[in-house]
Amino acid sequence: MAKVKYLRVASDKSITHRTIMLSSIAKGSVKINYPLYSGDTVKTLKAIESMGADVESQSGFLIVDGKGKKSLKEPNDVIDLGNSGTSMRLLSGLIGGEGIFVVLTGDNSLNRRPMMRIIEPLSRMGISFLYRFGGYAPLAIKGGDIKGISYEGKIASAQVKSAILLAGLYTTDDVLVSEPAKSRDHTENMLRAFGVDVEIGDKSVKLGNNRDLIGDFEINVPADISSAAYFMVHAALSKDKSVILRDVLLNATRSGILDVFDMANVKYEILNERIENYERIGDVEVVSSYGLRPFEINGSLVPRLIDEIPIISILAIFCDGISKIRDVYDLRKKESDRIKSICYNLTRLGVKVVEYEDGFDIYGNPNIKINPALIDTHKDHRIAMSFLTLQAAKDVNLSFSETHSILTSYPNFMDHLNYLST
Ligand code: S3P
Repeated sequence: MAKVKYLRVASDKSITHRTIMLSSIAKGSVKINYPLYSGDTVKTLKAIESMGADVESQSGFLIVDGKGKKSLKEPNDVIDLGNSGTSMRLLSGLIGGEGIFVVLTGDNSLNRRPMMRIIEPLSRMGISFLYRFGGYAPLAIKGGDIKGISYEGKIASAQVKSAILLAGLYTTDDVLVSEPAKSRDHTENMLRAFGVDVEIGDKSVKLGNNRDLIGDFEINVPADISSAAYFMVHAALSKDKSVILRDVLLNATRSGILDVFDMANVKYEILNERIENYERIGDVEVVSSYGLRPFEINGSLVPRLIDEIPIISILAIFCDGISKIRDVYDLRKKESDRIKSICYNLTRLGVKVVEYEDGFDIYGNPNIKINPALIDTHKDHRIAMSFLTLQAAKDVNLSFSETHSILTSYPNFMDHLNYLST
């Protein structure tokens, strides 16, 4: 019997971004326990500080002393959001509502990611944007009088939905967002925790009458299932392992990897389930798993595991047959073109893949022999961590174009991987 190892992985990135932003426009102070301090979330923190928010940041917690809506000030310089798409898209809605002028920029990757998806609805709500040809950052944003909107999203995107909801806090008009499949719902859950009236439908969200945020409470940021995913797959693929990952966010809009585990015959159990601030949290135990089966990912499952596709692709290598991943065209618009990054690297390892415009097939084999290879991470944190996990679980000989990108979401990743690998 394997000795059980326990780990509390990095805190949730989506929730950290949102607690910082919402606290900055709430009335009263909010204590945020266990925030994620990573490349991306520190960009959000610095951004709201540069807009005058009162923030005390300590090693295990953050206190944001909000002064209510319309309290943020114009920063005296451009705000650089580095690699963080969530910061850029959500802050655009917030800045627009605050009615201030801000220029947002990012690194090479972020300035190549599509922003038209937020510029279009936010412009309809009365926010002015200047941007590079095609809808790319830098974005110059000037807020105005916010109007209501009934927005039917063409893609399931929590970032688009959240940008609209944040801007919508600044009007009394009707604000309704619907989407083709339900994307992560942390913004609407957290707005409720701050006392805002929100009607949450199956694939839609509507703001109600009260749109003022009240602070004076504490929020515990749970562990990130997107970060836990690496160690869940690591345990499943390693020999004689049992790992319990504590306090993991298990919100149904984020836990699609567990559906894949059911299809693939990965052995896991959920322990100590509970609800905190409208979010489901629990401990996840995963043990070494054998007889892995291929799986299919498409349709409404996609937004529930969108950030886990790189590590799920590592699992697919060892499943007995062809795993099919479809309806993931938007992966081409992430920190790298993830369809390309995954297919390119799997091919170098000697794994057969067939690439499609909106996905790929992976020809798995439990007895596969992995070729030594140089992994090109495309400077994408999730590609780097996925292949580092493969290396640790299967003792294959890989080298990496870089691993610095993992600081984006998980600064302690290597320490945690080493701890679980020994
Ligand atoms: C996020 C939403 C998702 C996800 C991203 C984080 C969020 O992006 O891929 O890593 O925190 O709202 P989309 O909304 O573009 O799908």
